[in-house]
Amino acid sequence: MKKMKVGVVGLSFGMEFLPIYLRHPLVEDVVIADQDPRLLQVAKEKFGFSEEHCFSGIDPILADPTVDAVHIVTPPSTHAPLSIRVLQSGKHCGCTIPMGMSIEELKAIIDARKKSGKQYMFMETSIFGREFFYLQELYKNGKLGEVQYMSCAHYQDMEGWPSYWEGFPPLMHPTHAVGPCLMLLGKKPETVCAVGSGRIRKELAERYHSPFAFESALIRLHESDVAIEMERFLYGVARSYSECFRVYGSQMSFEWQQLEKENPVLYRRTGNLQQEIVDADSDPERFHRGSEIEEERVIVPDYAFRLPDSIRKFTRETVYNDENTHLSFKQGGGHGGSHPHMIHEFVTAIVENRPPVSDDILGAYWTGCGICAHESAMNGGKMIRIPEFEKA
Ligand SMILES: NC(=O)c1ccc[n+]([C@@H]2O[C@H](COP(=O)([O-])OP(=O)(O)OC[C@H]3O[C@@H](n4cnc5c(N)ncnc54)[C@H](O)[C@@H]3O)[C@@H](O)[C@H]2O)c1
Repeated sequence: MKKMKVGVVGLSFGMEFLPIYLRHPLVEDVVIADQDPRLLQVAKEKFGFSEEHCFSGIDPILADPTVDAVHIVTPPSTHAPLSIRVLQSGKHCGCTIPMGMSIEELKAIIDARKKSGKQYMFMETSIFGREFFYLQELYKNGKLGEVQYMSCAHYQDMEGWPSYWEGFPPLMHPTHAVGPCLMLLGKKPETVCAVGSGRIRKELAERYHSPFAFESALIRLHESDVAIEMERFLYGVARSYSECFRVYGSQMSFEWQQLEKENPVLYRRTGNLQQEIVDADSDPERFHRGSEIEEERVIVPDYAFRLPDSIRKFTRETVYNDENTHLSFKQGGGHGGSHPHMIHEFVTAIVENRPPVSDDILGAYWTGCGICAHESAMNGGKMIRIPEFEKA
């Protein structure tokens, strides 16, 4: 198989991916760009990048015909313009969250991807985390029974983060929460209604004209009975970090741990529901009230075995750690070991010439349902129909 050359643009959180690309068996070269020369210096010292591999902006990377793909890890408002430029330069594009800042931007990226004939990957870490892989196995093996309801949240106090986050509308950045739920069932979100709750400081609220501390939404899915509840805050709430989901099935349910240091809980129906209904009906004394449900904390396995040997260690080992912190990483509990899985999917999708599992269409639905949820919250809970994003 032909090995590829990758460009990584934005080296704050983006630094995290450099050692993974450098060790990936299908990557032969990596070039990097950041406006901050100090970060380029760190990359040189830590990972041996030469001067010729380092740039202060994206232009030389786009102009280099030997670069196959570009991974964007710059601030949110740059994601759509840079993704479109990458695709228009004839290269594959991976971009961190959020995909874009408006429905128009999401459509423009899809349009650029179609015209380019290249691949676009929405780099949502939560669908590559071990908790999601574990749930996916339970679901595919039928262990959950019928999925009845899901809820998800992303709680994160963003005080002290770069200024572009100040006052960011909570559900405009929804995908760490809702991505796993939508991915699990493989259904499109169809409608959403949301409410805003509480207030953030006036100076924060003025930035994006968004006053709420919390936004909370209910999403209906196309051709499904299941609804998803989605919650998010960024400022003004005394709650520690969590990106979490809960999945309620007829046979088994999964609840993310309340504290990161704990383990999640699995609830399991022990008896046969049909028999319980018969027993309850024929029991005038009503001894059979409620089903028997077992509860246990589970240790979610690591899925490093799915990866090439050379990058397996990165499900546990990272550039940023307790000594060398990046706030998102520290708060995010290591993003569930997702980073090498995400990079592996990006690289293999390109080499195999197929759309990545989280392509532009899924990225647009996941991001778009949050954009519409925020619009609903700003309009007193009005139900909003989520636009269709077409693949072909
Ligand atoms: N779990 C996750 O998926 C996750 C976690 C953390 C951050 N992120 C995303 O990653 C992105 C970056 O986050 P961060 O915390 O590293 O932000 P940051 O603001 O700390 O860093 C962004 C970097 O991009 C550089 N940059 C900006 N524009 C550039 C350009 N045009 N060309 C070259 N370099 C440019 C800046 O110099 C800076 O070093 C954000 O969009 C954030 O949402 C995702």
